Amino acid sequence: MKPIPAKSMGAPLTRLDGPAKVTGTAPYAFEHQVQRPTYLHPVQATIAHGRVVAMDTSAAAALDGVVTVLTVFDAPKLADTSDGELRILQDDRVHFRGQLIGAVVAESAEIAREAADSVRVDYRTEPHDTELRADHPRLYAPEKLLETEPADTDEGDVDAALAAAAVTVDQTYTTPIEHNNPMEPHASIAVWDETSGRPRVTLYDSTQGVHAVRKTLAPLFGLEPGQLRVIAPHVGGGFGSKGAPHAHNVLAIMAARRSGGRPVKFAVIRQQMFALVGYRTPTIQRIRLGADRDGRLTALSHEVVELTSAVKEFAEQTALVSRMMYAAPNRRTSHRLAPLDVPVPFWMRAPGECPGMFAAEVAMDELAAACGIDPIELRVRNEPESEPASGNPWSGRHLIECLRTGAERFGWAERDPAPRSRRQGDWLLGTGVAAATYPASSMPGNVARIVYCSDGRYTVQIGAADLGTGTWTALTQIAADALGCDTATVDLQIGDTDLPAASVAGGSSGISSWGTAIVAAARAFREQHGEKPSAGAETITEAPENPDADKFAMHSFGAHFVEVAVDRDTGEIRVPRMLGVFSIGRAINARTLRSQLIGGMTMGLSMALHEESVRDHRFGHVVTQDLATYHISAHADVRDIEAIWLDEVDEHANPMGSRGAGEIGIVGAAAAVANAVYHATGMRVRDLPITPDKLL
Ligand code: MOS
Repeated sequence: MKPIPAKSMGAPLTRLDGPAKVTGTAPYAFEHQVQRPTYLHPVQATIAHGRVVAMDTSAAAALDGVVTVLTVFDAPKLADTSDGELRILQDDRVHFRGQLIGAVVAESAEIAREAADSVRVDYRTEPHDTELRADHPRLYAPEKLLETEPADTDEGDVDAALAAAAVTVDQTYTTPIEHNNPMEPHASIAVWDETSGRPRVTLYDSTQGVHAVRKTLAPLFGLEPGQLRVIAPHVGGGFGSKGAPHAHNVLAIMAARRSGGRPVKFAVIRQQMFALVGYRTPTIQRIRLGADRDGRLTALSHEVVELTSAVKEFAEQTALVSRMMYAAPNRRTSHRLAPLDVPVPFWMRAPGECPGMFAAEVAMDELAAACGIDPIELRVRNEPESEPASGNPWSGRHLIECLRTGAERFGWAERDPAPRSRRQGDWLLGTGVAAATYPASSMPGNVARIVYCSDGRYTVQIGAADLGTGTWTALTQIAADALGCDTATVDLQIGDTDLPAASVAGGSSGISSWGTAIVAAARAFREQHGEKPSAGAETITEAPENPDADKFAMHSFGAHFVEVAVDRDTGEIRVPRMLGVFSIGRAINARTLRSQLIGGMTMGLSMALHEESVRDHRFGHVVTQDLATYHISAHADVRDIEAIWLDEVDEHANPMGSRGAGEIGIVGAAAAVANAVYHATGMRVRDLPITPDKLL
């Protein structure tokens, strides 16, 4: 595959949607103008497991301004109840605390809230189990990870190799529950219109993929896809939590069906998000490494225990990174799930790779210390020629170049490898390194339409999403290069199921997948209409399959360098410097790319030091359910942070030569912080977050 030449691509074009956003005219889900809106407030279960025996809605119904009340006893029946998360209000069962069991729709949000609070619910409680333990009695292996990958792999003889190894590491690493907290909480407006006899439903949603929402939700309501239109031109972040519809979307549509054609607005408030829209599973990861005296891995075992909800399986692919990251002749990976009475976990930025590489890259640092080898050199010695699992050549593995470039820039050569060797007053100083990786994928089923207008302008349409990542701008740059025109003459349209099919903005695959469709459509357009198209000339094309998909191992790589200062009396950790060097193929937009990378690194810093959702197992819910108690890195935490990337074009990943960069920034970042904390203090913290108490 020969990537198209770059003229607009690579430039740090400012966001084309920026002026609309800063002037407040870019509509987010809740802000779309609709006629005579109503407002929904949900009723949530206050037990973690059991049944709803009765719901007394008389006080709610008596309130002035209440339009309708829904309960588990009278809600509309869904046509498809196969999804355990989305099947709400269909029976009296309660599967987790916070589950949606009812709703009030009213003339104002305040009335809806007051009425919902007045609904009296009687339960029959059953014992619940919300606690993940490595020895949980009901652990099981999921059938598949990501639909195609086995839960377990076993190559060679790991036990024999570990027994014979000159140097070994055998440690357990744990990561807590973490919650996605995009700036814009989830929100929907649902409109159920039956004026023409056949229902036509519109959902304004805050989502990472309008077509995915339609595909999932239409069958639940017995609708043909064409009867449900989903609209999301602007989205205020998602981090994966908006990668699929959740139960709140179902509730909004259900309520709209009962509201006599009036639109129903449902803004999920931040506290509700902690039970309703997914979260990162906690993990318990045992890693065993065996190596010879020179640090060459002879055995690598990565065993993961994590949770899923008893009501629907979500299996995070945490140990997948250990199948491809380093060379090791004997290798074992496994995943076990505990089905608990908790909300359904879901994607959170780099699901799998992020917690997996925290454990794996701290373990590599431990091995480096055990062997007395520099941690960069250790990684260089374990660099695999080809992808270990498939044997395929890499489309572009430049990990060593990332490590060497970063080392040079960061001043790694001056580092004294001995822990606790640098001090400045009360502060212990240290530096750490960790590698990053993330798969370069493109999703199937993407279609783009190109229309030539009379005045030299092109309209480019695809139902893609921009969660604030820069899609509006990057796709315009791709379209301009594909059409051989200037970005100023391209009118991009995205975020609507009335536009051609597009995959979800997830797995860092968005720009690759949508861009491939746009390039294919531009090629077809020029073939059909030549260099001088007439006004109205139009082409619609589906992206072809990538002929290199099965021939090359396509992954991005990176290296994180972190400096920490730890107060020797209080254990307070500051992070004065973070540098990330990435190999991500060609940059489409240098500005938005850098934002994604430093955003990911910031989230990794946050993961290392702050983020933790605390579940109260007596009641089964997360008690840290707001930004006052769920701590994230704020401006004062983020000092000198920089991301750079190698000058590179991937000849195999897609026709733009890029590899996607939304998630790799967070992968390995927390490990680099933990490794720096070890270097500063001599204390190895294997349990995130690294709060001061763990250093005292
Ligand atoms: Mo990303 S967590 O795959 O939206």
